[in-house]
Amino acid sequence: MAGANTHGRRWGLAAVGVVTIGVLLAVPGGSAAQSSTSAGAVTFAEDVAPIFQQKCQECHRPDSMAPMSLLTYEASRPWARSIKARVVAREMPPWFLDKTIGIQEFINDISLTDEEIGTIVRWVDAGAPAGDLTKMPPPREWPSGDRFRLEDSLGPPDHVVTFDAFTMPAVAQDTFFRPMADAGLSEPRWVRAAETKPSGRDGRRIAHHASTYLHQPENSALLEAETALLSGQAAADVVLEIARQRIGGDPIDTREMFTEWAQGKSGEVYPEETGKLVKPGARFEVQIHYHAVGEEITDQLQLGLWFYPKGVTPKYSVTFVSVGTQNNKPLHIPPHSVTMHQGSYTLPAPAILHNFQPHMHYRGSAFSMEAIYPDGRRELLNHADRFSNDWHVSYIYHPDFAPLLPRGTVLQITAWHDNTAANRNNPDPRQWVAYGPRSVDEMAHSNSQIIFITGDDYQRMSAERRERARALVR
Ligand code: HEC
Repeated sequence: MAGANTHGRRWGLAAVGVVTIGVLLAVPGGSAAQSSTSAGAVTFAEDVAPIFQQKCQECHRPDSMAPMSLLTYEASRPWARSIKARVVAREMPPWFLDKTIGIQEFINDISLTDEEIGTIVRWVDAGAPAGDLTKMPPPREWPSGDRFRLEDSLGPPDHVVTFDAFTMPAVAQDTFFRPMADAGLSEPRWVRAAETKPSGRDGRRIAHHASTYLHQPENSALLEAETALLSGQAAADVVLEIARQRIGGDPIDTREMFTEWAQGKSGEVYPEETGKLVKPGARFEVQIHYHAVGEEITDQLQLGLWFYPKGVTPKYSVTFVSVGTQNNKPLHIPPHSVTMHQGSYTLPAPAILHNFQPHMHYRGSAFSMEAIYPDGRRELLNHADRFSNDWHVSYIYHPDFAPLLPRGTVLQITAWHDNTAANRNNPDPRQWVAYGPRSVDEMAHSNSQIIFITGDDYQRMSAERRERARALVR
């Protein structure tokens, strides 16, 4: 039963290329396989430019965040050696999963295939030839200026929340800005997609990444109202129980991760029939990391929300769960040492895991998540073997391959921290490090979005996956 997921996955690779569900990052399904590599004549125009278009230019173009443009041959040529080094080390594009183990089907995968890396390496080794530049693929079009990226697939947002502006001086240390804004909702709404956006191209130049949190007032009266709103929804009791545990009897303001913006990641698009309830009185908080670029720039963040139509209650709620050490035991990271910590969360109902998103700071070096099934079987879901605090990638599973887990499954994370001088991100290996909010303190958890389902759903979905796996084998 629990093995349905594994079986589905083994045959999955063949299917993924033709399914176009990825709206977060418009990476076309196919890849740049039109190479003339067998003849050894790898050129920029015909072999390398298509790869750069699909996997690099999102960030490497004028007015985006990366240091140089990879739009043209002239711009790319001086970087050839550095490009080879970065792609061989799999440091670029930023995608830090071990590709030899665990699930590999994600809707926002920007990593290079072995074949693509081979093409780039052969191009650089051959002296980075231009080739016939008239054979360049037509330039890719990028959403201009002030647009939510999800607009391309979803149309303009139904509701926009605007935060206070921030002015970054020309020269300054990195800054965290944390504006808070009212959601401005007079009635409860179900969100199906959300995106946080810096203002225009200038904003994108100074914005590194932004985490958006949802603050909702919680008290018994509101819980009662929520109970009514969730009525008929699958696994509503589990979602409500988690809300009840949060308030513990006292009226509080709960805070949970809502969405995140970073180059390469636009926001959240929940799977079909799944939404997030935002109640009247809710507020959004953004934590944005700005860096100076030698020019004074003012940015004003906006949050776009796409709703389900009024009166439509999606079948499932997405619930934010932090799986990690803060729930279990504290972090102790002695000077000059490499440590391993574990934390876990037991699923109170059958569930679908929407994403894998390791969260650690400067000393974080590797992070994995395992499922320990009620029958004792263990499965390594994913392993980020080269974690970097510079990139907070949310690896969003393709819905057909997202872990489908029975009730009672233990999600167990393992986090490695490297507090030695060998870790080049380490600001000071002489320090004792413990849990805390600053980047020089540490954390070890996965920011997970979980979709709780009913036992019947679980049976049905498991059967569907087994059937699909059989069909692919035939
Ligand atoms: C999600 C955004 C993003 C994508 C996609 C991306 N890069 Fe980068 N790249 C960056 C950023 C930001 C930096 C600077 C920070 C760093 O070095 O990590 C960078 C740095 C680099 C550097 C080092 C430049 C130097 O200063 O030496 C190289 C080389 C590079 N990228 C190549 C590539 C190639 C080739 C691709 C595609 C195959 C790619 N990148 C895809 C964002 C991106």
